[in-house]
Amino acid sequence: MLEVKEIHSYYGTSHILFGISFGVKEGEAVCLLGRNGAGKTTTFRSIIGLTPPKSGSIQFRGKEIIGKPPYRIAQMGIGYVPDTRRIFPDLTVRQNILVARREHKGAIWDLDRIYSLFPKLQSLETHMGTQLSGGEQQMLTVARTLMTNPELLLLDEPGEGLAPLVIKTMEQQLGEIKKLGLTMLICEHNVGLAINLSDRAYVMDKGMIHFQGTIDELKKHEEVRKKYLMV
Ligand SMILES: Nc1ncnc2c1ncn2[C@@H]1O[C@H](COP(=O)(O)OP(=O)(O)OP(=O)(O)O)[C@@H](O)[C@H]1O
Ligand SMILES: [Mg+2]
Repeated sequence: MLEVKEIHSYYGTSHILFGISFGVKEGEAVCLLGRNGAGKTTTFRSIIGLTPPKSGSIQFRGKEIIGKPPYRIAQMGIGYVPDTRRIFPDLTVRQNILVARREHKGAIWDLDRIYSLFPKLQSLETHMGTQLSGGEQQMLTVARTLMTNPELLLLDEPGEGLAPLVIKTMEQQLGEIKKLGLTMLICEHNVGLAINLSDRAYVMDKGMIHFQGTIDELKKHEEVRKKYLMV
């Protein structure tokens, strides 16, 4: 579904990604792990067109997407949940969800399905964005992105800054979304919920991929975990 090949990305003249290559197959959940500053967010920004790579290739369903503007890439079916939860503070929870609705054939996400997955959001539907806790804001960000009916969901540090119990709930909810067949790419700097949800992992550091394998293989590779993940 997604094929990233040898991408090099920059912020101005700072060279950040040095030939990153990886792929995500339909129906899979894949995680991109690496410590702070490894280049995970830059990789996501490269995919969604906010920081387009200067060289390399990114194909989504066989089509090159480097050079397309972010809104086109989103319309093609890539949903992005950024690490900064950008909800609309002056809209209610319900309005925040509905604002992202994207009608298209095969769309499975509507308000009912969102509320059955996130009952908490239904109970808060008339609350304003500013009145939500960090965990509720994160649920709302995921819910809003789902309303665009993406085919591939990119999640940047979905558990960041949340209490362990809230992370567990988020993990279960993302597990439900995965069961519905949604393809996911999740990045995380600590070994948390991503590993429990994913089928495969890539480990990156200093803008390069240093390991790829199944989660079981990663668990067995103590030196990879020690060197790049500090666990
Ligand atoms: N807007 C920017 N301008 C210049 N350099 C940046 C910018 N954003 C990030 N960087 C640099 O790019 C490198 C990769 O950052 P990136 O945000 O991709 O890392 P990350 O793996 O997502 O880290 P974290 O786990 O902290 O979120 C870092 O060295 C960072 O300082
Ligand atoms: Mg990041």
